[in-house]
Amino acid sequence: MIVPIAILGSGKGSNCRAILQHIRDGKLSAEVKVVISDVLGAPILDIAREFGVPNTYLPPGRFRTRLEPAAEAELVEMLQEAKVELVVLAGFMRVLKEQMLSAFPRRIINIHPSLLPKFPGLEAWKQALVGGEKVTGVTVHFVDEQIDHGDVIAQRAVPVLSGDTPETLHARIQTVEHILYPEALENVCQQLQP
Ligand code: GAR
Repeated sequence: MIVPIAILGSGKGSNCRAILQHIRDGKLSAEVKVVISDVLGAPILDIAREFGVPNTYLPPGRFRTRLEPAAEAELVEMLQEAKVELVVLAGFMRVLKEQMLSAFPRRIINIHPSLLPKFPGLEAWKQALVGGEKVTGVTVHFVDEQIDHGDVIAQRAVPVLSGDTPETLHARIQTVEHILYPEALENVCQQLQP
């Protein structure tokens, strides 16, 4: 079975690209029905276009860290209309609330650039550098009501090297993300099979 999914993101969309490429290569049994961004003109929307995937900007409303309730309701409606089974967060920088969580229980997945529960929140790679960590990593997890929190689906370690800058460390983490996320999603998709 091909699992219908949506991807939500706010930024450059490299994880979205990796997912779309894995699907194109026949390594992920999913179909991206829609890519949605809360940021007008975000590169992730261009990537969707490049792969011929429907994409849309969702005006987030007046809050900075979450969607306005009316916007979250619109998001639920769009996703239900697209009949998606999984909602995949790929650098979506707003916290999803009750409306989304109850519409898609245990069906929203996130990737975070640290070994959770360490370093939730923004720029986790910088937090690892500042904390003097020798190892950090990547976590794929089900989304719950807390930020960067929920049952872990997959984790992979990434070394912090001496001389790392935030940019070099994040680049190393992202190389791992682009492999781990499609792999973890494939496992979830397999488990959804009837
Ligand atoms: C990724 O590193 C992802 O792990 C992170 O945002 C980046 C998005 O990159 N997400 C979080 O920090 C979530 N708390 P991308 O737009 O190139 O996929």
